[in-house]
Amino acid sequence: MIGKPKKNALLQLFSLGVLVALVAGLAVMPVAAASTLGAAAAQSGRYYGAAISNGRLGDSAYTTIAAREFNMVTPENEMKMDATEPNQNQFNFSGGDAIYNWATSHGMKVRGHTLLWHNQQPGWMQSLSGSALRSAMLNHINGVMAHYKGKLAYWDVVNEAFSDDGSGGRRQSNLQATGNDWIEVAFKTARAADPSVKLCYNDYNIENWSAAKTQGVYNMVKDFKARGVPIDCVGFQSHFGSGGMPSNFQTTLSNFAALGVDVAITELDIASAPATAYANVTNACLAVARCVGMTVWGVRDSDSWRTGENPLLFDGSGNKKPAYTAVLNALNAAGPVATNTPTSVGPTPTRTRTPVPGTPTATPTRTPTPGSSGSTCSPVTSTITAPFTFDGAGTFCWQAASLGAYINSWNMASVTINGVNITNLYVASGSYPAKINGFYYIGYTGNFAWSHFETK
Ligand code: XIL
Repeated sequence: MIGKPKKNALLQLFSLGVLVALVAGLAVMPVAAASTLGAAAAQSGRYYGAAISNGRLGDSAYTTIAAREFNMVTPENEMKMDATEPNQNQFNFSGGDAIYNWATSHGMKVRGHTLLWHNQQPGWMQSLSGSALRSAMLNHINGVMAHYKGKLAYWDVVNEAFSDDGSGGRRQSNLQATGNDWIEVAFKTARAADPSVKLCYNDYNIENWSAAKTQGVYNMVKDFKARGVPIDCVGFQSHFGSGGMPSNFQTTLSNFAALGVDVAITELDIASAPATAYANVTNACLAVARCVGMTVWGVRDSDSWRTGENPLLFDGSGNKKPAYTAVLNALNAAGPVATNTPTSVGPTPTRTRTPVPGTPTATPTRTPTPGSSGSTCSPVTSTITAPFTFDGAGTFCWQAASLGAYINSWNMASVTINGVNITNLYVASGSYPAKINGFYYIGYTGNFAWSHFETK
C-alpha cells in the first residue's frame, strides 16, 4: 500500500526529468535553416518575392522555381496601365488575373504594379492632357482598384515620379502637367477605392541617401505624413550595377521608415549578380525593422529585362547562382526573431552587425573610345549588334545599321544621343532618334551608382 505511491512519485519524477531534458534539449537545439528564399525571409516576418510574367507561366522550369522559392509576386507588366485599360474605360484584367490566380493558388501574396506611371501608358492616355487626363487618371485608379479590391497586399500607386536631373524635383510628364497635386490626389483616391491594401510610392535611384532625388521623395513622404495624405510604404526598385548598392542604403531605408512608412526592395537586380552585393542588399533590409520584404525583378537570368547582364539569382538553366546562396544564408542568419513591427511609428530599432566589406564601384563592361560629336560622328568606334549593353561613363560613336533596335536606359544621371537627353527611357518609341539607322554620338554621365545603356 505504501509502495504504490512511491512508485508513482518516482515515475512522476522520472517523467519530469525527461520533460526537463526534452525542453532543455529543445532550447539548445539549433533551428533548422530554411531551404527556400520565401521560408527563410518568413522567419523574420518578411517576404521574398519575384516579378512574374504571364507569358512564362506555361514554362514548367520557370514555375517550378518560382513556386518553390517565393512568397510574394509582382506582375512584371500585366497590371500596368497599357495592359489594364488598353482603350479608355474598357478594362482588361486577363493577364493580371492569370498572375493573381497563379500566385494565390501557390499561397503567395501579390503586389499590384502600377497604377500611374509616365511609361507604359496606353496610346489614348498619352494623347490626353489637363483636366481630361486628370479625370481619366482617377477613373483608371478606381476601375483597376475595384477589380482587385481586398485581394492585394500592396499597390504601387505612383511609379517613378521624380526626376534624374539632380534637382530633387518632379519628373516632367503628362501626369505632372495636370498639376503638382496629382500624386496626393492619386493616393487619396486609392485609399477610398480600397482601404485594405497598402499604398506605396515606388522609384529607382532613391537608394543613395545623399542623392537629390532621394531627398525629394523623402520630403514628399514627410509632407504627406504631416498632412495626413494616405501613404503606407515606399518601394526602392534597386536596379544596381555590378558595384551593388550605395553604401548608405541602410541609412536611407531607416530614415524613410522613421517617417512611419513600411519600406521594401521592390525590383532588385544587380549586374552580374555578385554574391557579396546581393548579401549586402539583403542585410540592409534585414537591419531595418520596417523593411518588410525584398523582390527580385525576374526568376532566371533568361527572364530578366536586362538582357545579357545576368543580374538574377538563377542562371538560364534554372541553377542556383552563388548570389542565391548568399541571400539564403543572410536570410537564415537573421533567424526566427520577429523583428518586424509593421504598424509601429517612430524610431526604427536597428541591429548591430559586423560590417560587410564594401564592393567596388561599378566597372564598365567595355571601355569606349571617345568619338566626336555631331549627327555624323566619326570615326565609328563601336560596332554594335543588338542587343548591346554598356555600363559606365564615357562617350563613343555608334553607327546603327539594322534597327529594329531601340534604346533602353535607366539608373543614370544622363545619357545623350546626338545631344538629346534620353535619361530613363525604357520602351521603344517611334519618335525616338535612335530608332533611325545612322550615326550616333553617345555620351554618358556616370551616376552615383552606375549608368546603363542598351539596345534591343
Ligand atoms: C520593365 C519590365 O521588366 C519590362 O518587361 C518592360 O518592357 C519595361 O518595364 N521600373 C519599373 C518596372 O517600375 O515596371 C520596369 O519593368 C523596370 C523599371
